[in-house]
Amino acid sequence: MTHSTNDHLPDAARLTGTALPAGLLLPASLAQPSEVASRLRRRADGAPWMGVCFVCLGNICRSPTAEGIFLELIKAHPRREQIVVDSAGTSAAHRGAPADARSQATANRRGVRLPSLSRPALGPDFENFDLLIAMDRSNLGYLERLRPEGSRAQLCLLRDFDPEADGERDVPDPYYDGDAGFEEVFAMCWRSSEALGAWVNAVLDAGARAS
Ligand code: 4NP
Repeated sequence: MTHSTNDHLPDAARLTGTALPAGLLLPASLAQPSEVASRLRRRADGAPWMGVCFVCLGNICRSPTAEGIFLELIKAHPRREQIVVDSAGTSAAHRGAPADARSQATANRRGVRLPSLSRPALGPDFENFDLLIAMDRSNLGYLERLRPEGSRAQLCLLRDFDPEADGERDVPDPYYDGDAGFEEVFAMCWRSSEALGAWVNAVLDAGARAS
């Protein structure tokens, strides 16, 4: 069964607010929003824009799920046109493949589409994106090794944004799991993406103030 709405999900409209939600703990590895904002590139009209790329191993399960959820959450954001969203994999094994059918089914049941086609993460991603978000510590280690010298791109783990992480840091790989694993991944990605959206909003706000 597919749902055409996501009424039962948390209110995406809160991402249109201008302040970071009280109690939001920012990942310690991230620079302050104002510092990130000071480095953002600007469009021809002067508005800052920000690139966000989610990264997992195969780029067919976890990062396409996070990408699709984040796209859904920012759909109505007043600064939607200032946010570029993508995903990539540390492996090229599934290059060109759409999201895994189980990830798509899990997301579609909640009205979320996963537009991703798998591609490998590459050095230029550190130029093209301001924030690279790894799904697990193995992906993060890979990105740290790939990172070109002098890159100012921000790197973090998605679950650094998860208010219910309770010390856990990885979005577990669901590829060899049953459906429950895909449900768990979706829930983690949703919770984390809400907080991530607030952080991106704060960065763009700071960028607008500085212009
Ligand atoms: P993902 O999941 O990293 O979340 O896309 C995986 C997809 C494929 C494989 C492993 C993990 N694989 O071994 O092919």
